[in-house]
Order: sequence, then structure tokens, then C-alpha cells
Amino acid sequence: MDYRQVLAQIKETIDAARTGEEAAATVIDYLHDHFDHHSWVGIYWVRGQDLVLGPWKGPQATEHTRIPIGTGVCGAAAASGMTEVVDDVSKDARYLACFPSTKSEIVVPIIADGRVLGEIDIDSDRLAAFTPEDREFLEGVAVLLAPVRGRSA
Ligand code: SME
Repeated sequence: MDYRQVLAQIKETIDAARTGEEAAATVIDYLHDHFDHHSWVGIYWVRGQDLVLGPWKGPQATEHTRIPIGTGVCGAAAASGMTEVVDDVSKDARYLACFPSTKSEIVVPIIADGRVLGEIDIDSDRLAAFTPEDREFLEGVAVLLAPVRGRSA
């Protein structure tokens, strides 16, 4: 996969969307539909001291629709502003279980002006599904999503 080309494609879909919510949902759909190892994909937006689930796509809804910043893998990434890659969720004490099938997870903060606005959360049914290239690509997607939050606030 040529990640640079995919990023350009994602930027086009964001620019074409009429609202921020529509843009975010389109990106989520894209990330879910075009990658075999992306089992569940969602965005959490920061609201006060919590992360609140925005658009998502996957086989099942998660019960974790609101996560305090600092809790779980999602909350850790929001607190630090750093990407979290968990190769084996069964070995990470912070992990908040959503789906029994999940084996690995990546959480990528969406940042603007040094502030965490939200994050991309992807669960995979494969162990160690996320490579350094995936991380770099998804951090690129997060950069594209930062202005989207401004349009959907
Ligand atoms: N596993 C996450 C919670 C969100 S679900 O994966 C959708 C965590 O540990 O924060």
C-alpha cells in the first residue's frame, strides 16, 4: 500500500465533506473498509476531562463510549499526547476490554496547537498488527483530522 497516495485520497474525502462530523465519519469508514487488520475503528473526541466516542465502524458497538483521560490505553494516549501501540492487549494492565476478539490496538492522538483534541482508536483481531509504517500513516491521518474537529465542535 502506498500510504502517501492513501493520505492524499483521505484528504480529498475530508475536503469534500460538508461538515466536520461527515468528514470524520468518512475517514473512519475508509480506515475500516480498506485495511484487513483494522477490525474496529473509532474516533474519541476530548470533552472536558473525558474522551467521548464519535464516529466508529466495526462489527459491534463498544460499551466504552466515555473514557476518563488517564484511564485505559485510550486515556493514556490522551494524557501523554503520544501514540500507543499495544502488540498484545492481554499483557497490558491498562487495557479496557471492548471486544473478546481484540488482540492488539493502536491509539493515535489528534493534536492541534499542542492540545489533544481527540484520537483515532483501532482494534485488531491479529496480534502485533500495527507496524511502524502503520503508525506513521495513522499519525498522518490524525494531522488531517485536527481541523475537522474545529468544524464539528
Ligand atoms: N481498549 C481501549 C478502550 C476502547 S475500545 O478498544 C473501543 C482502552 O484500553 O482504552
